[in-house]
Formats: sequence, structure tokens, C-alpha cells
Amino acid sequence: MTDTAKHTPLVFSGMQPTNTLHLGNYLGALKNWVKLQERMPCIYCVVDMHAITVESDSKALAQATREVTAAYIAAGVDPKRSILFNQSQVAAHAELAWVFNCVARLGWLNRMTQFKDKAGKNRENASVGLFVYPNLMAADILAYRATHVPVGEDQKQHLELARDIAQKFNNDFNAPDFFPLPEPFIVGPGTRVMSLRDGTKKMSKSDESDYSRINLTDDADTIAQKVRKARTDPNPLPDTLEGLAGRPEAENLINIYAALADHTPETVIGEYAGAQFSVFKNALADLAVAKLTPLAQEMRTLLSDPAEIDRILKNGAERASAIAAPVMAEVRRLVGFVG
Ligand code: TYM
Repeated sequence: MTDTAKHTPLVFSGMQPTNTLHLGNYLGALKNWVKLQERMPCIYCVVDMHAITVESDSKALAQATREVTAAYIAAGVDPKRSILFNQSQVAAHAELAWVFNCVARLGWLNRMTQFKDKAGKNRENASVGLFVYPNLMAADILAYRATHVPVGEDQKQHLELARDIAQKFNNDFNAPDFFPLPEPFIVGPGTRVMSLRDGTKKMSKSDESDYSRINLTDDADTIAQKVRKARTDPNPLPDTLEGLAGRPEAENLINIYAALADHTPETVIGEYAGAQFSVFKNALADLAVAKLTPLAQEMRTLLSDPAEIDRILKNGAERASAIAAPVMAEVRRLVGFVG
């Protein structure tokens, strides 16, 4: 029996409300979230407390929180079926994160590559919150004793840490199997969408060039232009996946096409074997516009009623708090907190 089999299946995942979401967020995570709703109960969070680990502006944060909520719903997250809320409305996240700050070891956090990337050369000036961020992420998941976490490839290391924290808590407090060891759910050809300007770099919200990414709010012309301007090499497309070796930009565009079309990369290569990039890019631009512009339109409609978005988040937060409450009561008892 795997560890998660001892626990009731439950999905948890989240995204940071920093800037607009992009194609990587959609293909790496959000698209899978929507499908998982058919299979298991799901909790989807807008992790606003994570967003303040880097410099943030209060108005922009509130706006981005509503925008990310709208993106979840527009992509197909059903707020009646799944629980959808913003992290700061449920105090259990911060409370459990403190306990985990005392469980996780400094050496574990020192190994986190995302901290190194984000802090850059100016490590001394990074917030302490950015350093202990993975402990908060573990708390997000484990406050609900969630078993499955659908994310993109870049979150794998954080999830391994969450498993280590769960295991150490269970051992330290003599509570075998209290926390599940959450399983990463990283599937499909879109788990690592790369920059459109450099196939060796991840598509990211923080890249200076807007041409490096497709934002979920881009209009049809902008999407088409970004695809047509995407960096490529001079050769036509190969006829096998092996032929993509050493051609990161070509590989990235094939994977994006496959993820958007719900095909395998093999099928896409089969269809476009020997094609010039100009031909393939036109097809990809049409596909991206067809898949993404209805989502942007739906987001705009939802955002025209921010009060309704706030109601959805509040309702989700109440349902989330009710699940976390008994878990936190048991955590307090296990740790030895009186009252
Ligand atoms: P965040 O906000 O950076 O990204 C949200 C999700 O999008 C995925 N992603 C990508 N997938 C494929 N290609 C890309 N280029 C790409 N860029 C981003 C991420 O893997 C993620 O799934 N720490 C998390 C948020 C978080 C969380 C959690 C996730 C906080 N608590 C608990 C799961 C469970 C983050 O910063 O994701």
C-alpha cells in the first residue's frame, strides 16, 4: 500500500497572485486541475501570503488575487464542486507554517534552488519569508492532509521538502501516518513550458521581455504575434522526437502545441514532419488563439463583478477552514499546546 492510500484522496494546489498568469501556469498546472475535479475532491488556493515574500503593492495584490481567481474559474475550476479561496483568509496556513518552521532544518531550506534564483546575488536583502516559503507551502497542503498536488516541474523540489516535513513531524511527534506524504502530480507535455525567447529558460512571470511569454489575458493579435516572433532555429521540423535533441526552441513549441491540443508530442511531430517553422507557427498561433481567447473573455466577464468573486473566495475560505480545523486541533494536541 502506498502512503497516500492510507489517507482519503484530496487534491490541493495553488498559484501566486503576482502579475498575470501565463501559458506555463495554464498548461503546467491549471489545465490538470480542471480534469482532476472529475476524479477527486479538490481545493484550489490563491496563495496571496506567498506573494508578499517579494516586494508587493497592496492594490496590485488585491487586483491580482481577483484576477487569478477569475482565471481559475474561466479555465473550468467549478467553485461549487471544488473549494476555491485565498490563503490569507484561513489562519491555519500561517499557524501550521510556524510549527513547520520548527520542524524543517536550515540545511533543507539551504538547498532550495528557487530561493537561490529569486534571491539572486542580493541574498542578505531577501525577506526571511522568501527563505521559509517552502515551509508555508508544506503547510498549505498538509493543513488539509491533501494527498495529491498537481503542479509544474519547477515545484518538484518544494514538494519533496513537504514530504520530508510531513515525515519528520510524524516521527518527532510519534504520530505515524498523521500527515500523508503528498504526491506530486506532474503530467503531460506542458509541465515545463519554456520562454519563447530562449528555449533553455522557463517561461516566467518575472522575465523582463513580455515576448518571452503568452499571458492568459493577451488578445488574439498579441498571441499570434508572440508565436510568430518566437525564437527558432533555421531547420525544418524533424520527423521524430529524437530529432528535437539539441533544439530546445523547437521542442518547446511542439510541447506547447501538444499540450494545447491534448495530443502527444509524437502525434504533433508526425503531423508536421519536415514542415517549415513558418507553417507550424501559423498553426500554433491559430490553436493558441482558439484555446486562450475564450478564457480571456470569460475572465473579463467575471472581473466585471468583483463582489461576486469576493463572495466565492469567502465561501471557499469557510469550507476550507472547516476541513483544516480538526487537523489543527490534533496538531496542537500532538505538539503539546494547551487549550
Ligand atoms: P507559481 O505561482 O510560480 O506557479 C503556479 C503553477 O504554475 C506552474 N508553472 C509552470 N508550469 C509549466 N511551465 C512553466 N513555465 C511554469 N511556470 C509555473 C508551477 O509549477 C505551479 O504549479 N509555490 C507555488 C505556489 C504554491 C503551491 C502551494 C503549489 C504555494 N503553495 C501548495 C502547490 C501546493 C508557486 O510559486 O507557483
